Amino acid sequence: MNLRLLVTGGAGFIGSNFVHAMLTSSAGYSVTVLDKLTYAGNLDNLAGLENHPRFVFQQGDICDSELVGRILGRGIDAVLNFAAESHVDRSILDPTEFARTNVLGTLSVLEASRRHKVARYLQVSTDEVYGSLGPSGSFTEDSPLQPNSPYAASKAAADLIVRSYHQTYGLPALITRCSNNYGPYQFPEKLIPLLVTNTLEGRALPIYGDGLNVRDWIHVQDHCEALERILHQGREGEVYNVGARSEATNLKIVRSIVSILGKDEGLITFVKDRPGHDRRYAIDPSKLENELGWKARIPFEEGIRQTVDWYCRNSAWVARVRSGEYQRYYSRMYDNRQRTLSELK
Ligand code: NAD
Ligand code: DAU
Repeated sequence: MNLRLLVTGGAGFIGSNFVHAMLTSSAGYSVTVLDKLTYAGNLDNLAGLENHPRFVFQQGDICDSELVGRILGRGIDAVLNFAAESHVDRSILDPTEFARTNVLGTLSVLEASRRHKVARYLQVSTDEVYGSLGPSGSFTEDSPLQPNSPYAASKAAADLIVRSYHQTYGLPALITRCSNNYGPYQFPEKLIPLLVTNTLEGRALPIYGDGLNVRDWIHVQDHCEALERILHQGREGEVYNVGARSEATNLKIVRSIVSILGKDEGLITFVKDRPGHDRRYAIDPSKLENELGWKARIPFEEGIRQTVDWYCRNSAWVARVRSGEYQRYYSRMYDNRQRTLSELK
């Protein structure tokens, strides 16, 4: 059967990678994207699909429950909810939109999914709901929810509402919690694309705090493959962690990008830390590997080279997303943030 998918947030980074993967798959999916086209949503990410016979794009807000209901009424088998405000730093500057889209928006999509009896609802969540780790150990699906940023708290709240829809109404829902993604089409407010594009322009490379915070990196293509596997084979009501066992400090990341681009490390600039900055994330994906036979395939060293190369080859995409709003955000975030020598001692 050719599944009819609703992908919310499909014009963003992970959503657009997922849409491209589904429409080139031999499974013959039909895909409807619902996306508000916020600063992070970009139709350029879906370029080439305009005339695809199994693709429909609808601009709109997931909080608009009437609109979501109308789309589901046209016939949708499975909903994947990627739509979210996704950037931790922006959630610190202004948390309200995070609560609206991530919590109320999720509720709106869940309610429409329940009314229209969708066969599958997949909530794309994050390892940040688990909070921060010490130097050892990793998050399992049983780790307590201890979100530390307004973004993480909004995602944890959404996860709990998804859980309640499964428990209370029997909605066939699943939750995935993935670690840090990197790859093509990532908006350059996030660490890796920000470092790549700044290095290419010879701009300072801002590293928060001491640069020793650890993130667990996965290529977006591996994440998308995991989502497809979980969509088909995951058990309803379950949570699945997704990760590639690829931890690195932020300093290691910046050094590897500078080295791939053949630049020197002089651009690395330590700046004031992010408030409440989680020290370390590490995802244990054993449940997904053992139950569903998925495994990440792209080693970080290979994925980061491909990604740097993608940004080098797509300078027009970069120039377009970095105009306008991005410049205002960048000044607000980074101007006057550089640490003085005495603060560094
Ligand atoms: P992104 O910011 O690149 O894209 C988000 C998309 O959602 C954009 O296209 C935006 O226009 C759309 N959107 C925002 N508010 C909307 C609304 N009210 N209605 C409809 N569309 C709206 O984010 P991303 O990095 O692609 O993340 C996608 C999902 O994956 C998010 O739910 C995020 O929490 C989760 N996630 C991200 C990562 C990561 O490393 N980026 C890791 C794990 C989980
Ligand atoms: O773990 C999954 C999460 O990963 C997702 O849920 C989020 O949507 C996604 O944005 C990401 O969150 P992070 O906060 O980990 O990603 P970010 O790219 O913002 O930062 C990665 C690390 O780099 C973090 O330790 C903060 C640091 N950093 C970030 C920026 C933007 C810097 O040192 N300098 C920077 O300029």
